[in-house]
Amino acid sequence: MRLSRKIFLLSAVACGMAVAQAPAFARHAHDGGGDPADARARQVLASMSLEDKMSLLFSVDGGGFNGSVAPPGGLGSAAYLRAPKGSGLPDLQISDAGLGVRNPAHIRKDGAAVSLPSGLSTASTWDMDMARQAGVMIGREAWQSGFNILLGGGADLTRDPRGGRNFEYAGEDPLQTGRMVGSTIAGVQSQHVISTLKHYAMNDLETSRMTMSADIDPVAMRESDLLGFEIALETGHPGSVMCSYNRVNDLYACENPYLLTTTLKQDWHYPGFVMSDWGATHSSARAALAGLDQESAGDHADARPYFRALLEADVKAGRVPQARINDMAERIVRSLFAVGLVDHQPQRSALDVVTDTLVAQKDEEEGAVLLRNQGHILPLSPTARIAVIGGHADVGVISGGGSSQVDPIGGEVVKGPGKKEWPGDPVYFPSSPLKAMKAEAPQARITYDSGTNIASAVRAAHAADVVVVYATQFTFEGMDAPSMHLDGNADALITAVAAANPRTVVVMETGDPVLMPWNNSVAGVLEAWFPGSGGGPAIARLLFGKVAPSGHLTMTFPQAESQLAHPDIAGVTADNVFEMQFHTDQELVYDEGSDVGYRWFDRNHFKPLYPFGYGLTYTTFSTDGLKLAERHGQVTATFNVHNTGTQPGVDVPQVYVGLPDGGARRLAGWQRVSLAPGESRQVSVQLDPRLLAHFDGRHNRWSVPSGTFRVWLASCATDDSQQATMHLHGRTMAP
Ligand code: BGC
Repeated sequence: MRLSRKIFLLSAVACGMAVAQAPAFARHAHDGGGDPADARARQVLASMSLEDKMSLLFSVDGGGFNGSVAPPGGLGSAAYLRAPKGSGLPDLQISDAGLGVRNPAHIRKDGAAVSLPSGLSTASTWDMDMARQAGVMIGREAWQSGFNILLGGGADLTRDPRGGRNFEYAGEDPLQTGRMVGSTIAGVQSQHVISTLKHYAMNDLETSRMTMSADIDPVAMRESDLLGFEIALETGHPGSVMCSYNRVNDLYACENPYLLTTTLKQDWHYPGFVMSDWGATHSSARAALAGLDQESAGDHADARPYFRALLEADVKAGRVPQARINDMAERIVRSLFAVGLVDHQPQRSALDVVTDTLVAQKDEEEGAVLLRNQGHILPLSPTARIAVIGGHADVGVISGGGSSQVDPIGGEVVKGPGKKEWPGDPVYFPSSPLKAMKAEAPQARITYDSGTNIASAVRAAHAADVVVVYATQFTFEGMDAPSMHLDGNADALITAVAAANPRTVVVMETGDPVLMPWNNSVAGVLEAWFPGSGGGPAIARLLFGKVAPSGHLTMTFPQAESQLAHPDIAGVTADNVFEMQFHTDQELVYDEGSDVGYRWFDRNHFKPLYPFGYGLTYTTFSTDGLKLAERHGQVTATFNVHNTGTQPGVDVPQVYVGLPDGGARRLAGWQRVSLAPGESRQVSVQLDPRLLAHFDGRHNRWSVPSGTFRVWLASCATDDSQQATMHLHGRTMAP
């Protein structure tokens, strides 16, 4: 059924969403007085004038934005805020760092940094400790580069596998996204640098991102996208949250009281501050009263500098109470103390490139997903004749474009094709898979063909024992992928090469899931995502079995676009990236509600090409003995995992639940288990109680229904082999 927008608005009113009510300004959960960050913030603010407090609410463009230069005091980055004189607070040096520290328009002479693989790769590790290490690496590089606030921690759900920024995010499941992104945030902040959870909320597509309204039943939103943000918050405790460009149920996210105040600050007791995305502030009083605390780069990015003279006038006229200004300033200062950035201010020093690149490499080694391995074609024999074809594998690996783009250490290794429009040409990091393969297997005879001429590639394939084709899909911020196909001639190339030599392995470097019309005619497929600064060696080590693949998909790979909840994206084919962001479809009704990704496939009994949670390795595993126990409302699944093969490996058994009243299955927990050949281990997984519940919008709480729940112990979202049931008594939980 296609719910009408009217229904969303009605229920929104019931939840106190669309009405411009006066939000409560006081912060609650942390007002107990026990938190030293609160006390120190209050102390600093006590001696500040109103003018000084208001200066904290507005950052200026930091340079590199349409040719702008760094402001005095700024290092050259997304934004800068001069701390009030005599406050003892540091200036805020705010940098993008979705995957590594960014250098917009190459503004800083020494601005190259190490880049992690894409967020999807980190998420595909299902390893919260790896995600944390990844965050530590970025946080450390930020600190060594003089930055104290990072704009990294993307947690929007993949509602559409063509989303231009999916590669910055974690995937389609709220629990998985929340835990993985939250862990990266915790890692960044362990380095005394604030991490920013973004883009709050429902910024799941790039098409019309500046104007469109994502319309969704608020209850479904709490059970999907907002649950992802909620779990990321409680896992990572980010100092700031960035509200997004788009509207949500008609209201701009940065002036949406339901998102910013009712949900984030009241229900979730968030003590930090909300900053706007660059160009996402549209008002002064309305935004401040809704819960926006800081306008970002307001001198350049927004239509007006709202949080300057206009907000001052609002305060003078009583439209915005001073108490709200105090709250805004206190939230900002509190976060500075909470992550320790006042006491541990950045010390600019040389980056430890070798160590940091190894972190990126490990992340890629754990996050690449082995999708197909017919006849054990992988790992490759170290003495084989191997034809490597395409993807610029001779020089490097591709990366995603936009504000998460990192300037590669060692420079860009592929020039062209000379795209003038944002975000320019794809950037390849100088981490060559070909060179790394040669280093890994010096006895192998490895040739390279660029793949641009299919006949020449076919000749190379004929002459080899094994072929490895590298195929790319460039995606970037500001535009969704117009199709789910690999770039250029890749489909035709793979088809021709596999016909010449069926012992073909495809290594995909993509920002999104892609269609694979040649899937059944190749022997192996490794999804390497955007592999990052350590990509070359990581891929080579996986291919030759120096390390076993252990990644599992966090996104469903569909068989066709017709299987998607929204088979087409209106306006995605507009050929101008700015047209696309502003002037295409203005309203997107998410009538699939919380059934995102694999839940949509489950609900409709669609068979995907590769399901969520799927991933092969070089050994085999089995699981058995599933038992469920409930204590004080906490459900635990206990089971055994066995390595039944001959190689060490890592398994990621997943636990899904089905509620008594039906509906799609939901991931409720998982465990990553490393086992030697023949080894077994008993594992316990606690199920997140919110996945056993519905959100009750009327009473604003979670409600576990009474009845019989189904539980799947599974290797992926479509695995039905092991099931159990349990009876639970209904109960409610605070939001
Ligand atoms: C992006 C944000 C980014 C900001 C600053 C915006 O266009 O949406 O993710 O942090 O720019 O560069």
